[in-house]
Amino acid sequence: MDKPAAQPTVNILGIPGSLRRDSYNRAALEAAQQLAPAGAQVEIFDLHGIPGFSEDDERDPPAQVVELKRRVRAADAILFATPEYNYSIPGVLKNAIDWASRPYGDSAWDGKPAAVMGASIGTVGTARAQYHLRQCFVFLNMPAINRPEVMIANAPHGFDQNGNLVNETSRRLIAELVDNLVSWSRRLKGVAA
Ligand code: FNR
Repeated sequence: MDKPAAQPTVNILGIPGSLRRDSYNRAALEAAQQLAPAGAQVEIFDLHGIPGFSEDDERDPPAQVVELKRRVRAADAILFATPEYNYSIPGVLKNAIDWASRPYGDSAWDGKPAAVMGASIGTVGTARAQYHLRQCFVFLNMPAINRPEVMIANAPHGFDQNGNLVNETSRRLIAELVDNLVSWSRRLKGVAA
């Protein structure tokens, strides 16, 4: 009997919403890279150097934004790892989302499957920020998966001093989240085909 054809690799672009050198959110994406199932890979796109958005420049964006839009478009799915700043998403992340959504009619996010996770030193693990991010997905037309919700609270206890995620529950949830994102993007591709 013929073997079933191998499925194409699902390429996930991980976007950390923090520029901090020892960011827990970036470290959570590194855990996602390790935990991704066979047939999927997670690449990380850092948001360093993206200037503040101005509509005056949206038709001639800076090189970092051109590259961000290219990488988003090339990816099969997006995995955001957001900190929570003042009960919402960091300006750095919102700024990047805004740039890549413009000019009107040329959004790189349109139709891209998405998933969210987040780590904070607080007790609710970025819940409020994640729901603000999910609100953006509505206008951006990003079909986001609902579960599992990965909210890593008390982050200094979940990672070791080298930035490795050691909390077993968080590791299990991230593995499940990436697995679900892979199936979801395959399903959406199948529907589109
Ligand atoms: C924070 N932090 C924070 N934490 C939280 O749980 N809820 C919040 O609303 C805020 N607000 C906030 C605002 C600002 C401006 C900063 C700098 C920090 C703390 C935050 O969880 C902590 O700095 C994390 O370590 C940020 O994530 P990274 O950089 O480790 O990925």
